[in-house]
Amino acid sequence: MLIKQELADKIVEQVGNEFAASAQYLAIAVYFDQEAMSQTAGFFYKQAEEEREHAMKLLKYVVETGGKVVLPAVSAPKAVIKSAEDAFQTSLNWELEVTGQINGLMDLAKKQNDYLAQNFLNWFVDEQLEEVTTMEKYLNLVRKMGDKNIFMLEGIIARAG
Ligand code: FEO
Repeated sequence: MLIKQELADKIVEQVGNEFAASAQYLAIAVYFDQEAMSQTAGFFYKQAEEEREHAMKLLKYVVETGGKVVLPAVSAPKAVIKSAEDAFQTSLNWELEVTGQINGLMDLAKKQNDYLAQNFLNWFVDEQLEEVTTMEKYLNLVRKMGDKNIFMLEGIIARAG
């Protein structure tokens, strides 16, 4: 077994967090879909897919390194999204929380001198930088637009691809 069970357990816990993130982004995507903002909805549907991929990547790592896997319960998303600002603030909060969780995994991998895990986790460290900055950028834009001009976001997101 290439992984210590303590780290395997923490990574599997993170699998649950990533699935919870996926569910949260799905709930946000549905909010925008029902507000007739299909580009923004599409952005969040894609985010939901990406979070699922993160979960699978973490899960496969534990399987490949021979850790025992007991999948956790996935917490329910915040169901009521009040506004576009609420959606992006929720997303940013979530990404900041995940950044802390990934850092926690890295701390443990370092404590255990597990270089393989550190190498693997580096990808997530970089990914968090991208996700936090993206959500921050959109949250700032949404605040500047206000409710009246929120449909401008559709064009911006469409152009960002
Ligand atoms: Fe998987 Fe958005 O962090």
